[in-house]
Amino acid sequence: MIEKDFIPKPYTNSIENGSVTWSSPSNIALVKYWGKKAHQIPENPSISFTLNNCKTITNLSFTTKEKEGKFSFEVYLDGEKKDDFKPKIETFFNRVELYVPFLRNYHFKIETSNTFPHSSGIASSASGMSALALCLMSIEKELKGDILEVDFIKKASFLARLGSGSACRSLEGDIVVWGSHDKINGSSNLFGVKYPYTVHQNFKNYQDTILLVDKGEKQVSSTVGHNLMHGHPFAQERFKQADKNLSDCITILKDGDLDKFTALVESEALTLHAMMMTSMPYFILMKPNTLEIINKIWAFRNKTNSKVCFTLDAGANVHVLYPESESMRVLEFIKNELVAYCQNGQYICDVIGLGANKL
Ligand code: DP6
Repeated sequence: MIEKDFIPKPYTNSIENGSVTWSSPSNIALVKYWGKKAHQIPENPSISFTLNNCKTITNLSFTTKEKEGKFSFEVYLDGEKKDDFKPKIETFFNRVELYVPFLRNYHFKIETSNTFPHSSGIASSASGMSALALCLMSIEKELKGDILEVDFIKKASFLARLGSGSACRSLEGDIVVWGSHDKINGSSNLFGVKYPYTVHQNFKNYQDTILLVDKGEKQVSSTVGHNLMHGHPFAQERFKQADKNLSDCITILKDGDLDKFTALVESEALTLHAMMMTSMPYFILMKPNTLEIINKIWAFRNKTNSKVCFTLDAGANVHVLYPESESMRVLEFIKNELVAYCQNGQYICDVIGLGANKL
């Protein structure tokens, strides 16, 4: 499919007003997306676990406007007006207007809330943008009369990507690939696809406990970070490595080899941060406690033979990944040894999930 295929034919129905609500989760990448071309096209393919508990719930209500004119919308987070969210949504609307041409016909009220604490340093752009994209698709569905489920999800993912790259991996579960890759059937740079191959039982209900190390605003946004990959001295090698890591992932997911899984996932996390540290300008998003936690995890693994491992996103928080069979002892370990490094002792227990839901 190409971008043009997402431009709809003239709508057959007209609607005056309405309201739709979607809940959409966050996701955590195993092979990371870091670096993009124009129009939100990733430099390399990525793969992620969809989460279950960290979600955004968005209600989009719309009323017909007198005149088409400019985009007209208001945004609320937990019932509070959030004008500082508007520029990001305005950018999103500009990027997707061609594909959902009804945007200027309505005034929108966007009411959103997250299940995770606000400013927890957990990226809300993946869950937030995917929830909003799904709401727009529900409106398009009404305007069209009907749309096949597969096409609905594909286009919602396509739109979500234009809001925030990683958001296109949040619609479905439990594992999603975004970015074209030789060995993954149906994979595309334009949208995320459900991982199409066998996954070993070891990954069933895989656990992700997110340790909140630093809840502050990031000093460098992901968008700025991605841009610093242009002309980065190690960029091309990194993109090749991600491609190979995704190939290796296919075997690891099939065989359920958790030692190889650990090596791949931890290397990906540290490579992501190494890219940040070797950008110009360079920057560091990890905090001292991020490193304390990593060292503790390594020591625990050496001592106990546990399969627990970590990954990081573009921030200081640590995602602790482990099989369901180890839940009890890893949670014990987290409480006894890692919580001390979390801001206000906060952490969130999550598990691999099935994707977004219409409410
Ligand atoms: C480190 O999707 O937040 O989490 O497309 O600019 O919105 P934009 O970036 P974003 O980048 C996420 C980067 C990452 C890795 C990943 O999720 O693959």
